[in-house]
Amino acid sequence: MEFHVYESARAACEAAGVLIAAQITRKGDSVLGLATGSTPIPAYEMLVQWWERGVIDFDKIRTFNLDEYVGIDQKNPMSYHAFMQEHLFSKVNLRPENTNLPSGRSVTACTAYDEKIRAAGGIDIQLLGIGRNGHIGFNEPADEFTYGTHIVTLAQDTIEANARFFRSADEVPRQAISMGIGNIMAARCVVLVATGENKAQAVYDTICGPITPHVPASILQLHPCCVILADRDASKLMRK
Ligand code: F6R
Repeated sequence: MEFHVYESARAACEAAGVLIAAQITRKGDSVLGLATGSTPIPAYEMLVQWWERGVIDFDKIRTFNLDEYVGIDQKNPMSYHAFMQEHLFSKVNLRPENTNLPSGRSVTACTAYDEKIRAAGGIDIQLLGIGRNGHIGFNEPADEFTYGTHIVTLAQDTIEANARFFRSADEVPRQAISMGIGNIMAARCVVLVATGENKAQAVYDTICGPITPHVPASILQLHPCCVILADRDASKLMRK
């Protein structure tokens, strides 16, 4: 596990953009694992800028997102489908048929998503944010790790954290469909970005704590190619 600290949140996120751009440069038909939320937005901005300048090309790139809410329409502006359209898909030359987000609430939908990732040859680089409670994707703290794509009931902490995107916490969907820990661990390289003081405990527990499903990101200690990029605030417990 590599750990890098940056002066600003923006620099930490842009560094993730650098790693993804490098992957695209090395392998033009890479499979990218993508995340939503506030954290990755500057990384997507970088990728858009580099595409506009002709530095990188998305023509043969395929993408798989980590998660999506259950029970909200893909066209709903709060959906992760809409988020990806807004921040990346509509701004670069990604082919719509090469972009994938999980959807539905059935076991069949979950296994179909896992199968599609496998058929694409697996994920080359997986971008991750982290929840205040140590979740990755929507793998919430639990008594055991879940391997594949699954339907999850969101933790109260996640509902409260994500209420800022909705009019109130009551509007946050209670369920999501998420890649599992097995999908994330199977990615050839994982890049986790953590910014802000409210992520400091999760960063510390992920890197220095025991490997436990109660801190889902702690499993990344076992990943052979995992890079954690954090700003000063999110890494403040690491400097004690
Ligand atoms: C989003 C996702 C979540 C977020 C996490 C942090 O696709 O999988 O794990 O990365 O909740 O969200 P932000 O970046 O909004 O703090």
